[in-house]
Amino acid sequence: MNTDFHKSTVYQIYPRSFQDTSGNGTGDLKGITRKLDYLKGIGVDYLWITPFFVSPQVDNGYDVADYYRIDPLFGTMEDLEELIAEADRYEIGLMLDMVFNHTSDEHEWFQKALAGEKKYMDFYYFRRGKGPGVPPNNWDNRVAPGSAWEYVPHLDLWYLHLYDRKQPDLNWENPLVREELKKVVRFWVEKGVKGFRFDVVNLVSKPEGLPDDNAEEGMNGKQLYTDGPKIHEFLHELTADTGIASLVTVGEMASTGLSHCIRYSKPENEELSMTFSFHHLKTDYKDGKKWEVMPNDFMALKKLLFTWQQEMKRGGGWNALFWCNHDQPRIVSRYGDDGKYWKESAKMLGLAIHMLRGTPYIYQGEEIGMTNVKNYDCIQDFNDTETQDNYKALLKQGKSPEEALRIICARSRDNGRTPMQWTADPKANGGFTDGTPWLKCNSNVADINVESQINDPDSIYSFYKKLVSLRKEQEVIAEGDVIPCLENHPQIFAYQRVLKNAEGEQKILVICNFTGKEAVIGKEELNFAGEEAVIGKEELNFADIEDSRLLISNYKDTSVQIRNGRLRPFEAAAYQI
Ligand code: GLC
Repeated sequence: MNTDFHKSTVYQIYPRSFQDTSGNGTGDLKGITRKLDYLKGIGVDYLWITPFFVSPQVDNGYDVADYYRIDPLFGTMEDLEELIAEADRYEIGLMLDMVFNHTSDEHEWFQKALAGEKKYMDFYYFRRGKGPGVPPNNWDNRVAPGSAWEYVPHLDLWYLHLYDRKQPDLNWENPLVREELKKVVRFWVEKGVKGFRFDVVNLVSKPEGLPDDNAEEGMNGKQLYTDGPKIHEFLHELTADTGIASLVTVGEMASTGLSHCIRYSKPENEELSMTFSFHHLKTDYKDGKKWEVMPNDFMALKKLLFTWQQEMKRGGGWNALFWCNHDQPRIVSRYGDDGKYWKESAKMLGLAIHMLRGTPYIYQGEEIGMTNVKNYDCIQDFNDTETQDNYKALLKQGKSPEEALRIICARSRDNGRTPMQWTADPKANGGFTDGTPWLKCNSNVADINVESQINDPDSIYSFYKKLVSLRKEQEVIAEGDVIPCLENHPQIFAYQRVLKNAEGEQKILVICNFTGKEAVIGKEELNFAGEEAVIGKEELNFADIEDSRLLISNYKDTSVQIRNGRLRPFEAAAYQI
């Protein structure tokens, strides 16, 4: 497997919200081409572009009706070819999003299945119910309360859909399905793309016989098909048979396990280059529930990040590093502070994740500190199906409309999908479109936009740009070990990166205050007298900071402060020791 991507940074684009060139209110492929200069400016190596294939857009393109054609909403095949060629000139590779767990119900295969064609019925999971009105098993839908099965009266059969009922699950047990999906991959490789992101790909192997589950309500099925029985075999086959081991691939792994992620991303297994896991983005879920809000459990977050870092390294796997994507609320509003310490906390979060071992992903707008929606005051402001369904469910549970709205404002995926904020003019929709945007712009465009940050050396944008270049300059960031420091400190996330090779030893210390309060490092943890002090697992003399090189920080005179054992609100720095 290729491992060149260890020094790379990927930028994720949600095309419908990135840049509209046609004036129809939806971003398009030409909009991405137009912004290549901007993207090159950040220094990113790859663009992961979420699906733009023909689709009824029930799940904004994650319901694909034709894997080989571009949805006219986003442009034409010529637009894509132009984008690939232009990106190539900038030495930026495209990674396409392959949605292979399910298709749209409008896909030709499913239409033929509904028409009763046996060959295509076997492309999906059609089963008889247990009795009248009773689905074939007790599996729950993953995105809306209720069963994962839909009844088709004229066939008197049910079909499986882990996501929306308009997203029927493909039957990977059927070799014809796997062959069709390989054809899709080969087609796009031929077009010149440099990698792929595979959507919820750890859910594709369902257990034989689709048995009932005995999990708690709402979770049934999950433990049976997550990292399912043949998943490694299927992924290896897909990669080997399409020759994509030399490209960059990432699997979106829903509710996955660490040992599986090691196997998925270990180069010699030839499955994937790396994996997205989501446990670190659930430490603000109350009792594990997405639609209940609570403050982030920082200690849980820290433990998770360290465990995954160390175990993936030990096992030879590779992490995708990220805080944001099109399914997540904005990180600065979540684990940071989008008010008083907006700038400091956005930078701190960037530093905390980018200095870890793995390949970092920047989601559009993260590099300028875009926040959750500030101006959505009714359910009609939201577009996302999952949000709509869960709003109804919250009301059904007895929550008041105000409370339900408060929860969806914090949790909705639309927080991450509002239009990219290019310019300060709210009347011009922040430079996103001349038309009416498909989703309302955030009202803070006047304060948060590319225009005001791009030439400001102190901006979040400039900070991110520096993070991307540090990874290229310092081998230790890409390849070093991760050694947790101050593990029990309730506010500080700190670690060392250490790399020993023929040229000697390289060491970096990263230290981040995750709170809006000053953080004090106790004398027992840190000896400022210049004697050796033990912190975390390794010995580190903090007095070294005096002689060490400050690589990056989010406050002025950071070194002095940290030597005094104090970190200001959300203060963060990295030193080369
Ligand atoms: C992934 C996508 C998400 C989509 C789901 C179903 O999680 O990121 O947007 O709704 O898969 O395809």
